[in-house]
Amino acid sequence: MIYAAIAAGGVGSRMGADIPKQFLNVGGVPMIVRTISRFCSSPSVDAVYVGTNAEWVDELKAMCAEYLPEADNVTILAGGSDRNGTVFKIAEHIAAERGVAPQDIILTHDGVRPFVTERIIADNIAAMRDHSAAGTAVPSVDTILLSSEDGGVIESVPPRARMFRAQTPQTFRLKELMQEYAALTDEQKARLTDTAGIFALRGIPVAIVRGEDTNIKITAPFDMQLAELIAAQEK
Ligand code: CTP
Repeated sequence: MIYAAIAAGGVGSRMGADIPKQFLNVGGVPMIVRTISRFCSSPSVDAVYVGTNAEWVDELKAMCAEYLPEADNVTILAGGSDRNGTVFKIAEHIAAERGVAPQDIILTHDGVRPFVTERIIADNIAAMRDHSAAGTAVPSVDTILLSSEDGGVIESVPPRARMFRAQTPQTFRLKELMQEYAALTDEQKARLTDTAGIFALRGIPVAIVRGEDTNIKITAPFDMQLAELIAAQEK
């Protein structure tokens, strides 16, 4: 089976809106609905799971019924206390509901990246033929600086040609993801902001799948303006 796990349980503090940013409208449609529709309409994905804020579960179910009435492969559940916690809760839910087969694949994705493409989804799945894990990324056009611990001075300037900006999906075998996450210490769990980091930390090669500049993560108010532009262009 090929599963999509969409992490949509954050509060959106940097956006500063009065509701979690994943429920804000982009081009007249809730951002999270746009994201879900990309995966439930993908011919490669068998089932879609979304981990969201506990108090928004019913609301999100109602949104899916309204905007995606044809979708019969979407399950909404309460997320965890951080992003990886939400991903792991989804993995545990799938395991309890359907069991885990060695070849099962899980694509993990940010609920606030509504412009992911079918090409990116298909390339993530294809990369799993030769790798244990895959992560979407785009080459960095900016030079990246590594700062001192306190962020005050430049410690080093890594070669730009090897710098990428991480996007999602990040893709794993469900069984391995559950094993690797369970093996982390609480300190490691708190430090990792993305899921591929779990594999990189343990020395497991993660294939890089080419992302798109339009596959943005909507984080702060300016990103909403960009999102409106991208949504208008996609029409
Ligand atoms: N996320 C999640 N569960 C959490 C925290 C975050 O599923 N407990 C999700 C967010 O909903 C988002 C993705 O992880 O889709 C990326 O996180 P980020 O952009 O940092 O979202 P927030 O945590 O909501 O934003 P902020 O850090 O500004 O509060």
